[in-house]
Amino acid sequence: MPFLGRCIRLCQLGLVVYLVVAVLFTTFRLFVLPFSALLRSISELSLAASEPPSPFSVFSGFFWILQYLAGAMVQDWPWNPERTSTSSSELSSDSVFWESSSLALKHGLGQPEPVAVPEALFLSKAFSNSMHPSRIVPFYYRASGTVDSEDITITTLITSNRFKVFAQLAERYEGPISVTIHVENTTTRISELLNQLHTLYTSSKSMATHVDVHLVIDSFDRQFNTWRNIARLFARTNYVMMLDVDFALCTDFRRAIRKSAKMMGRLREGTSAFVLPAFEYTKLSEGTDQRNFPKDKKSLLALIKAGRIGMFHASWAAGHNSTDYDRYYTAKPGEVYKVTQYQSAYEPYVVFRKDGPPWCDERFVGYGGNKAACLFEMYLSGVSFYVLADHFIIHQNHLYEETARKNERKYNRKIYSDFKEETCLRYFKSYHQRNLLNTSSGYNLQSECQKIKGVSRLASQIITEDT
Ligand SMILES: *[C@@H]1O[C@H](CO)[C@@H](O)[C@H](O)[C@H]1NC(C)=O
Ligand SMILES: *[C@@H]1O[C@H](CO)[C@@H](O)[C@H](O)[C@H]1NC(C)=O
Ligand SMILES: *[C@@H]1O[C@H](CO)[C@@H](O)[C@H](O)[C@H]1NC(C)=O
Repeated sequence: MPFLGRCIRLCQLGLVVYLVVAVLFTTFRLFVLPFSALLRSISELSLAASEPPSPFSVFSGFFWILQYLAGAMVQDWPWNPERTSTSSSELSSDSVFWESSSLALKHGLGQPEPVAVPEALFLSKAFSNSMHPSRIVPFYYRASGTVDSEDITITTLITSNRFKVFAQLAERYEGPISVTIHVENTTTRISELLNQLHTLYTSSKSMATHVDVHLVIDSFDRQFNTWRNIARLFARTNYVMMLDVDFALCTDFRRAIRKSAKMMGRLREGTSAFVLPAFEYTKLSEGTDQRNFPKDKKSLLALIKAGRIGMFHASWAAGHNSTDYDRYYTAKPGEVYKVTQYQSAYEPYVVFRKDGPPWCDERFVGYGGNKAACLFEMYLSGVSFYVLADHFIIHQNHLYEETARKNERKYNRKIYSDFKEETCLRYFKSYHQRNLLNTSSGYNLQSECQKIKGVSRLASQIITEDT
């Protein structure tokens, strides 16, 4: 039967052609795609949209060819079903890699290929004390300028109502900035904020040159310490400055520190943090435009004398008075003096080594105690504070959300006193086991923790049990 024979031959031909195309396509998907980061991330987007087709299944190969052809026809390859909305796999989908030690490899042991761990898994452990679920997107924008590892990165956090003042900070600093931006996890808020952010980021050259942006997408407001740690973790220099975005930088502390071999040496040791004294205008209306702020200490002192500027948050003296403002006013040019009256509510703005000092405790959420907790643990760990007497920063006034602040302060006060006790005991144990308790680096710990009732007794118990 010639008709049936022709049919069979036609079918065979069709099958062969199909197999060749499927094999070519599978090869493309398996070996070409992995080398293109862009194509990879977008293909993951389509994978997320449909069931992941196995590249070995003939049927799905056909499916992919159709997608490819359809995509090519509308000039939109790779095929992308939802271009307009922000898909989570579009934001980032990296892995973290671990290699065998070079020593093991030298002996022919281990494996040369690194082990890959999904970035999201790694970050969920890195921030396991924070509220969950939460999605962290490091380097959503990455600065185009080159970064000198010996530079000082400003680490800070913003929400969308601080975009304007953040732009001023970037213009003024002209150096590396690592910023965490919180994005509320609702579809409309995410796209709205990312659009605003895009406008902000592309609006100024210093922004695109110097600022790295990291996103936190979740439902939790005011997780300041988590956001601080993210900005610090992804800073690309050896030194950081922890700053609140509404402070105006008035003097060039960055250059002063970098050109002093002595100060750089102390930063490198990791046991010194340099304090930038903080001020504010006494009249709210005077302090709203940083273009009018003083730019050198002489002009600052004149304004202080006239009563127009004073220490930051004078109504909550414990927050900054360890800086010792009287000493600051009379210090000689170039002086750097040690903070000798530290107390646990002290929360100055400091420059310190990125790697080494403890991180901010992420259990603090909301106003009150959060920044002081960062500095308390730093102090206990053996970092001492030194005031840069030629430099200063000034708060740019704005209205606070007072009700939220009051309530959060109330319960954070209790959390903070528990935290201090627990931290003291942890460090007592650590210093004791490293035989450092009676050394000069244990001085901060000894002197500060003695102030807490009952801690000395518990600490001596820990020490006796261990010995
Ligand atoms: C964000 O919201 C979506 C939809 O409600 C949810 O599936 C997802 O788990 C949320 N992600 C985070 C990090 O909260
Ligand atoms: C700072 O203020 C607190 C509380 O008002 C006070 O107890 C302390 O003595 C002050 N310290 C200095 C150095 O002025
Ligand atoms: C530390 O020194 C004090 C005296 O200066 C001494 O009483 C104490 O036992 C010492 N502690 C340790 C753990 O060596």
